[in-house]
Amino acid sequence: MLPTDVDLTDLDVFERGEAWPLFDVLRAEQPLHWNSEPAPNHGFWSVTRHADVVAVTRDGATFSSEAGGTNLEELDAGQIETRKSMLETDGVRHRALRRLLQHEFTPRGLAGYEVFLRGLTRATIDAALSLREFDFVKHVSADLPIRVLARMLDVPQERTGQLIEWGNRMVGNSDPDYADVLAGTAESEEFRSLPFRSPAALEVFEYGFELARQRRGGDGQDLVSKLINQVPEDGVPLSERDFRNYFLLLVVAGNETTRHAISHTMKALIDHPRQLERLLGDPALIPGAVEEFLRWASPVYHFRRTATRDVELHGHTVRAGEKIVAWFAAANRDERIFDGPYRFDVGRRRVDHVTFGKGGPHFCLGNQLARMEIRIMFEELIPRLSGGIEPAGEVTRVRSNFINGIKTFPVRAGSR
Ligand code: HEM
Repeated sequence: MLPTDVDLTDLDVFERGEAWPLFDVLRAEQPLHWNSEPAPNHGFWSVTRHADVVAVTRDGATFSSEAGGTNLEELDAGQIETRKSMLETDGVRHRALRRLLQHEFTPRGLAGYEVFLRGLTRATIDAALSLREFDFVKHVSADLPIRVLARMLDVPQERTGQLIEWGNRMVGNSDPDYADVLAGTAESEEFRSLPFRSPAALEVFEYGFELARQRRGGDGQDLVSKLINQVPEDGVPLSERDFRNYFLLLVVAGNETTRHAISHTMKALIDHPRQLERLLGDPALIPGAVEEFLRWASPVYHFRRTATRDVELHGHTVRAGEKIVAWFAAANRDERIFDGPYRFDVGRRRVDHVTFGKGGPHFCLGNQLARMEIRIMFEELIPRLSGGIEPAGEVTRVRSNFINGIKTFPVRAGSR
């Protein structure tokens, strides 16, 4: 295939899980690639090499998250303003917003959740394995991340089903199985000022406000209380919009991503039985293997930036105002960094992946939480798989070039 034939907006390709050869062509032959788009969008540049993805996401002054948001959808000034969360904010204000919850997501801040998480993981796995044949996504990976977040937000367990549904409807906004209103359709125009153009956002906001009303002025240690009862370090209090968009970001960011990381890892271990055998034989390898799990899974395909000035890159000029997309997933298969990038190797050393970004201002706030969830999941799951595990039906994927997700994954356990 020629690089000029590559179209990274073709969702059929992503739904089939076949974007990898396209990334290979771009890394090799056109490290800065122009992708045209149907109107009203204007097209975008893509970077796919590890070094370029790191450079673009580190340089927030040249490649802004705030100027046009972080998704491919092109927004007008009003939409940018109303939909903006920390993820779409640059500079001093971004830092101040991030600092509000930074401590809660450090290993120290998270240590108190380990026992809860391990108990929850065991119960989830035991219930699934007792079925022998089950959908791995539905019974194992789907609910765990949001249950942990529900605990951090101090949301009652009976509301977690609702949180899961909201997350699916928003992040799956290009997938008819998830979205009630498909992004980009005429129907979605009515919701254009909402994150993901999804009416589910209104329900999330409403719920966030309800929690805020209950907790304002209290001394709760949950994330909502911490958000509303502190003033950011720049001295500018959280507006209503800041709060609702922050709350929504928390609900969305850690939910699908961690779920898909767990599902992809399970699939990789089934597809590479010798790697599963290694971990079964020596479970002490599991914590180190988590980095290879994350590289392999790459649950976030991309985030977008907007150039704030003309920049020369690989012999082309990216003009001020143009979109430039960092393809994290493509960088995680860069042969300049990873020896045999398509080899799933649980013993791989110094796995310098960009699954959470790398060294930039927006580097994933929840990376330590995600790492802990994935580690505990496989520390508990792998020793219970000595009876074997095998596919029991077709794997289906989320129809999206943003989230690399597995929707259904039927498996049979204990078949040996
Ligand atoms: C395997 C799971 C996860 C993946 C692959 C992932 C990936 C990412 C990526 C790629 C970014 C943007 C990095 C950049 O632009 O430089 C990001 C940002 C973010 N992530 Fe995660 N994430 C995961 C789990 C989580 C969890 C569990 C949370 C917790 C709620 C979370 C919260 C956030 C937040 C709040 C941001 C925005 C940070 C900022 O703008 O400063 N993520 N994540």
